[in-house]
Amino acid sequence: MSGLYQRDAASIARIAHLRFSPLAITGGRGSWLIDDQGRELLDFSASWGAASLGHSHPAVRAAVDRALSSQAGAGHISAATLPAVELAERLLALTPGEGERKVWLGHSGSDANEAAVRAIVAATGRPRLVAFRNAYHGGTAGSMAVSGHPALPQSARAPGLTLLPYPSAADPDGGAGAAAEALSMLRDLLIRVGAEVGALLYEPIQADGGMIVPPAGFLTEIEGLCRRHGVLTVADEVKVGLGRTGRFHAHGHDGLRPDVVILGKGLGGGLPVSAVIGPAAILDHASCFAIQTVHGNPVCAAAALAVLDTIEAEGLGARAEAVGATLRSGLEELQRRIGAIRSVRGRGIALGFGVGEDGASGLSGAQIAALTVYRAWELGLVLYYVGPGSDVLELTPPLTLTDAEAKRGVAILEVTLADVLAGRVAPETVEAFTGW
Ligand SMILES: Cc1ncc(COP(=O)(O)O)c(C=O)c1O
Repeated sequence: MSGLYQRDAASIARIAHLRFSPLAITGGRGSWLIDDQGRELLDFSASWGAASLGHSHPAVRAAVDRALSSQAGAGHISAATLPAVELAERLLALTPGEGERKVWLGHSGSDANEAAVRAIVAATGRPRLVAFRNAYHGGTAGSMAVSGHPALPQSARAPGLTLLPYPSAADPDGGAGAAAEALSMLRDLLIRVGAEVGALLYEPIQADGGMIVPPAGFLTEIEGLCRRHGVLTVADEVKVGLGRTGRFHAHGHDGLRPDVVILGKGLGGGLPVSAVIGPAAILDHASCFAIQTVHGNPVCAAAALAVLDTIEAEGLGARAEAVGATLRSGLEELQRRIGAIRSVRGRGIALGFGVGEDGASGLSGAQIAALTVYRAWELGLVLYYVGPGSDVLELTPPLTLTDAEAKRGVAILEVTLADVLAGRVAPETVEAFTGW
């Protein structure tokens, strides 16, 4: 364990940790991180998708530098600022929707989901909410309250929250059983108390729930039911939005028309900024309702504008689709050769592969996932695992990942998995890294 990691362990609170290896970073460029030993590691996580343009992207650096050279204050709650207004106008133009709409700017996916839900409940007077089992919408009280992820057992769920099953197209029945159950639960709820339901939150791909792609048409039916009962739909695009799936908005694959769209993570290209885009009637509900001092921060807003410009100018959505195809076929090739890989799923470069019990080594899926993340770190690749069973390796690399880097990462994964399954990584190695 390096000196930097030890200092972190001694000074940074464990309640802020989600650790899988003693990764200790001092720098980075593009898709590569540099650790405190000077090693370069290929970053297949991009800090859970936040470093959307990779590390130290020149466009983000230039925008941040410009914004800081004549700083338009530190936040927008008590003054109009040019970067925040430009960002809001840009997001409205990039997000289809009907009627008058507004934008709320925040720091994180968590505060954005929380602000959206609170505003919807207050503005509509409809206190009930619907979300999905295993969904992760954030780590603040209000966003945890509408999440169904088992990693948040200590958080109180919102009173009147209904959690529906989230079907997976990769299930043997194509997700038909879970989809029918979810639709029937929703229909029953709406018939009984539809007028009390304010919103339904969904991830277009359930990321922390295991990178699950729902069957085609499922979310369209959900949206139709909600619309008929005046229930607002909220698309949480925090992890899979902004070009990552090949389309600017992941809900675009299903032709959905959510009332509210939540953006975060990759929006700031590594800086903290999030957004809610939704009906003015909801987001204008009351002033002083969802404010934090440096919301609309001009430096973060400038970074976000640079990210949006770069995604458009460099066609990063199309690139995510192309590089994602390379990555996916590499993973599928591994799946053909390695029985412990049970499934490859996702879209574009929002990908995951599920691992399951391995007869020869006696390792469970969760053990394989934990050991794979650790061994990959040793071999120079950064990725983490997700899923309610902690058994899905997640790949959310920068949108700027090259084909060569995708192949390099798959090659490292192949060696990693061979080492793990041959018992070359002792299970005790990962005991200190509790993951989730
Ligand atoms: C879909 C989704 N929504 C919201 C969040 C919360 O975002 P943040 O951790 O930036 O607050 C996450 C984080 O993983 C997420 O995946």
